[in-house]
Amino acid sequence: MPQAIMLREHGGPEVLRVEDVNIAAPGPGQVRIRQTAVGVNFHDCYVRTGLYQTLKLPGIPGLEAAGEVISLGDGVQGLAPGDRVAYFSAAYGGYASERVIGADRLVKIPAGVSDALAASLMIKGLTALMLVKPVHALGPGDTILVHAAAGGVGLLLCQWARHLGARVIGTAGSAEKAALAKAAGCEEVILYRSEDFVARVRDLTGGKGVNVAYDSVGKDTFYGSMECLADLGHLVNFGQSSGPIEPMAVSLLSKGSYTLTRPMLFHYCATRPALEAMAAELFATIADGTLTIAEPLALPLAEAHEAHRRLEARETTGAVILTP
Ligand SMILES: NC(=O)c1ccc[n+]([C@@H]2O[C@H](COP(=O)([O-])OP(=O)(O)OC[C@H]3O[C@@H](n4cnc5c(N)ncnc54)[C@H](OP(=O)(O)O)[C@@H]3O)[C@@H](O)[C@H]2O)c1
Repeated sequence: MPQAIMLREHGGPEVLRVEDVNIAAPGPGQVRIRQTAVGVNFHDCYVRTGLYQTLKLPGIPGLEAAGEVISLGDGVQGLAPGDRVAYFSAAYGGYASERVIGADRLVKIPAGVSDALAASLMIKGLTALMLVKPVHALGPGDTILVHAAAGGVGLLLCQWARHLGARVIGTAGSAEKAALAKAAGCEEVILYRSEDFVARVRDLTGGKGVNVAYDSVGKDTFYGSMECLADLGHLVNFGQSSGPIEPMAVSLLSKGSYTLTRPMLFHYCATRPALEAMAAELFATIADGTLTIAEPLALPLAEAHEAHRRLEARETTGAVILTP
């Protein structure tokens, strides 16, 4: 019998409980897949706590996974049973051993990329790509700040930014995380739980500040990140792992003619051509060695609560997946 994590109420990690579920046959344009690896994202914590009210309860959380095509609905072309596929989808339903999903969200996993890696990359890798190209086209001459540089997105973002020629200053919550961030291309890593990251960024940039600050930590760092900007600097807030940001007075941006963006991956990959182009670029950067990525930490699907606990306790580095 297929199993899934069914969210019946908002709350702490303990509300993530596994249940037997029935899976409908795939309708027109849909595919049924047996999932072998499910990506865990901070987004899932926001959904579990109710910070994001985007999943109707009871419902199965989870936005990304990898697995094998079992059967096809009418009209699906270009896929066959047995194909290895991965996806991210705003339709939720990822935390499951099997599911039905629109074929238009699936990409084939290239040979040489494991299911585990693919499941951990669809959101985090495409987010890194979104951040270093369409959100802000990085190149030599850019000096950037990346918070949570040893996190799932962070390690990929640092590597990609460095590859494009940017000078990368990271922040991390421990010395062990700092070592990983350095290996991923950070020139300097600030231990922001004990050091004043604004003062250190000013020091490291000769008082000038950074061109781009990538901030996914939110509440605890957002206003400090703005203080780290050089004139005409770009503040990119793409998450809030420490909590939601207090409302901001727009006039603050005038201090250095700053720009502020709050990108969401869904909008950058909303169409099939955009998804295909970005996924192809992501997999190409893995094939050519631009990104070197460790296999993610894997926990059983039934231990989704433990994955969330570790993520929120800042115990993880890189990506985490669940294995059904
Ligand atoms: N906008 C988008 O489209 C998009 C897409 C994907 C991800 N995201 C965002 O990107 C961020 C990273 O996602 P991820 O899944 O890769 O997670 P992650 O970075 O692996 O984990 C979050 C990290 O944030 C840091 N952190 C700082 N303060 C924290 C706090 N109070 N509680 C918990 N963590 C804290 C921790 O690193 P340290 O211990 O080093 O501080 C922690 O490891 C999240 O904010 C997520 O929402 C956004």
